Amino acid sequence: MYVCVCSAVTERQIHQAAAQGARKLRDLRHSLGVTAECGRCARCAHDCLQSALGTTSRTDIGGLVAGMRSAFTAPLEA
Ligand code: FES
Repeated sequence: MYVCVCSAVTERQIHQAAAQGARKLRDLRHSLGVTAECGRCARCAHDCLQSALGTTSRTDIGGLVAGMRSAFTAPLEA
């Protein structure tokens, strides 16, 4: 399943990145380009990473999601 459409990153790639040491969303951004464009994949990518790491904490994404809220609510340009 694609997690990040903009960078064509799959759930499998995120699991591989976790196996290679990725621990934070920013690690995925640096290694795979996740959230580097529209950012709409942030929550899903975070959840996928946490699943790969065997945790369920969402506390470290709260600030990122809040900061990106405008990207989710901004009207699309014609
Ligand atoms: S879907 Fe990941 S940056 Fe757009």
